[in-house]
Amino acid sequence: MKYYIVTYGCQMNVHESEKIAGILERMGYTCGQSREEADIIVFNTCAIREGAEDRVFGNVGALKKQKKNNKNLIIVVAGCMTQKENTAKHLLKTFPFVDIVIGTFNIAKLEEYIRNVKNGRQLELWAEGEIDESLPYSRSSGENAWVNIMQGCNNFCTYCIVPYVRGREKSRKQEAIISEIKEIIAEGKYKKITLLGQNVNSYGKDLVPAVSFANLLKEICKLQGDFTVSFMTSHPKDLTDELIDTIASEAKVDKYIHLPAQSGDNRILKLMNRRYTREHYLSIINKIRAKIPNCRITSDFIVGFPTETEDEFMRTYSLVEEVKFDGIFAFMYSPREGTVASKMEGQVEEKIKHERVNKLLALEKRIQKEEGKA
Ligand code: SAH
Ligand code: SF4
Ligand code: F3S
Repeated sequence: MKYYIVTYGCQMNVHESEKIAGILERMGYTCGQSREEADIIVFNTCAIREGAEDRVFGNVGALKKQKKNNKNLIIVVAGCMTQKENTAKHLLKTFPFVDIVIGTFNIAKLEEYIRNVKNGRQLELWAEGEIDESLPYSRSSGENAWVNIMQGCNNFCTYCIVPYVRGREKSRKQEAIISEIKEIIAEGKYKKITLLGQNVNSYGKDLVPAVSFANLLKEICKLQGDFTVSFMTSHPKDLTDELIDTIASEAKVDKYIHLPAQSGDNRILKLMNRRYTREHYLSIINKIRAKIPNCRITSDFIVGFPTETEDEFMRTYSLVEEVKFDGIFAFMYSPREGTVASKMEGQVEEKIKHERVNKLLALEKRIQKEEGKA
């Protein structure tokens, strides 16, 4: 019996697919090379932008024929899209041949669902629960091992769906993380460990007693072995001097920070609820560059946020020009149902969003060329 997993979205989802693979392998399935030869197909979905959701709808729809020819094929939809009530309902209505829809908090029940599949469609969503730490991972990212250090997000940036589909921030206990990393090192095949969280800088604030992310990094660096540690994503509002000093002083920590700015304009940053200003963002960049001379810095930007004027967009442009990042991702704002920004007046025309994103990407290309980074 073979499985095939299609993953969309962020690294966290990539890692979650390793967990899904672990569950399936424990049940006796092996990894298939294509959808066509699979006995079970899992879509691990992302809800961050409309485009991501459209791709899922297209790809699930394309399985109709395969399912018709093979009644025993099991089709599962998991991940962030399933946590949105309207999207999940729409999915079920559009694709009656999907067997299992499972929310992000209930992956542990996948095995039970698969065993019960004869009983018809299985749906389990929204119930926020404990993440089961005993689930096996089947790691498949080469020399890199992903390690989740926290789940959820408390920030509620006004454009973002993540807090709604991933629940509130919850840090894993430091001991659990350290023991997972010890096992990874002992396996001997991983050179890099990447710590994952939507906002790693707030790691440990909810633990009793509270610990800092910098402290976790230091503890990891004490472990014996030939490895480097990386992490993502950092939120500028919570990035501390202690963390910058730790990255600078710990040889095992990769000199790399992904620090999404989202906008270079203070009015837009405020509307986005990012809770920092352009000036504060630039002061962090200066600090990083002063203390960690070769540090690579990358960023994310959203263009066409509701009410964004051309001048305000140009302040994002000038920020990118000023900082000369080692790479940026630029996204056109995509309204997400249920978020504050989706209800704001002054939604920006698609045509203008396209123009702005292209302009920003052209600038990025020019900078990479000039700096010899490309
Ligand atoms: N937790 C991370 C980001 C997770 S989402 C952080 O706070 O930076 C990854 C990126 O997707 C974000 O940085 C943002 O640039 C983009 N994004 C999120 N919601 C979006 C939306 N509604 N439309 C367009 N881009 C979005
Ligand atoms: Fe979304 Fe903001 Fe949380 Fe990042 S910090 S996941 S952008 S709400
Ligand atoms: Fe997408 Fe969910 Fe990640 S919405 S970006 S897969 S947390």
